[in-house]
Amino acid sequence: MKLLITGGAGFIGSHVVRLFVTKYPEYQIYNLDALTYAGNLANLKDIENAPNYTFIKGDITDAKFLEDMFAELSLDGVIHLAAESHVDRSITDPMSFVMTNVVGTVNLLNAAKNSWASTGGFEGKRFYHVSTDEVYGSLHNPEDFFTEETPYDPQSPYSASKAASDHFVRAYGNTYKLPVVLSNCSNNYGPNHFPEKLIPLMIHNIQTNKPLPVYGKGENVRDWLFVVDHARAIDAVFHKGKEGETYNIGGFNEWKNIDIVHLLCGIMDRKLGRPEGTSAQLITYVTDRAGHDLRYAIDAHKIMNELGWEPSLQFAEGLEKTVDWFLANQEWMDNVTSGAYQSYYQGMYANR
Ligand SMILES: NC(=O)c1ccc[n+]([C@@H]2O[C@H](COP(=O)([O-])OP(=O)(O)OC[C@H]3O[C@@H](n4cnc5c(N)ncnc54)[C@H](O)[C@@H]3O)[C@@H](O)[C@H]2O)c1
Repeated sequence: MKLLITGGAGFIGSHVVRLFVTKYPEYQIYNLDALTYAGNLANLKDIENAPNYTFIKGDITDAKFLEDMFAELSLDGVIHLAAESHVDRSITDPMSFVMTNVVGTVNLLNAAKNSWASTGGFEGKRFYHVSTDEVYGSLHNPEDFFTEETPYDPQSPYSASKAASDHFVRAYGNTYKLPVVLSNCSNNYGPNHFPEKLIPLMIHNIQTNKPLPVYGKGENVRDWLFVVDHARAIDAVFHKGKEGETYNIGGFNEWKNIDIVHLLCGIMDRKLGRPEGTSAQLITYVTDRAGHDLRYAIDAHKIMNELGWEPSLQFAEGLEKTVDWFLANQEWMDNVTSGAYQSYYQGMYANR
């Protein structure tokens, strides 16, 4: 199996690359990543010299580059995670989301389709597209959950671009019979999470005594899944998922943002030896994000029943692990917040 994983230097991608490189030593894993601000090869330091692992610096918006790479590598499968992933950035710069998430995905579909069609057909091949629950929009009834049949109703430029990419992947399955499979997952958290997202931002700001910005009243509800459990689910879908199907992935673990922030304040006070209640004083309510969806909740029964996957960690345990990781990896955080990680790795790979 020669497997391309896109976006493998990012948060979720790095956990997927690590899982596949260590669990399947007989596979050749190629990690394709443009190393945008969100890509950090320090996430993969522990496996960077593994004999079955190769990093390729490249941009999925470059169709010719993808075509050449597919011709050179004779790939059997693709797990596509590369994306612009931050909702706030999509509000200020929607076009970069169109380029990477929509155009980049279609480029990748074309490269896979054309390369596979001209070298023996689609038998034994697989194109797996990793997507988000945000494509379903916001839930209004507290009893409702997103199922695989929930109509798409994206509300932000980010979720609109992911929805468009999902539609293209399904269209290539229907029109060209490209063997595709998809999954839509809820919010991830865990080690290596970029500190522009809620949980790592709060951990970092608590540690450095900075304000903890909470959108609106902090009432927005998300379902949270430990990133390693998402990687395990991706393994299950890639190997056992039925062609053409979509699997929703989630933790049955709904939290209001403000409650997560209080939980983190409590954990951090304890771990940093601060009197209880110290960190919560840093909470600062800020103007709500434009178009902020109120509630997401995933019904993950299909993947649980059909593929035998289930989350391995409870939220309290996962959050403790996450906080412990960030406290033990101060250098990682310093390099990310100072920007040092970018110049270091860009310099190393700029000419490839
Ligand atoms: N983070 C979540 O909670 C979550 C939940 C569900 C689904 N997802 C999806 O999972 C995937 C990964 O999310 P993440 O949080 O790890 O994202 P991330 O932003 O941490 O990582 C994205 C990676 O893609 C790379 N990339 C960006 N543009 C590229 C381009 N044009 N060409 C090649 N590489 C490029 C970046 O360098 C980075 O390494 C995304 O598709 C996202 O939509 C994320």
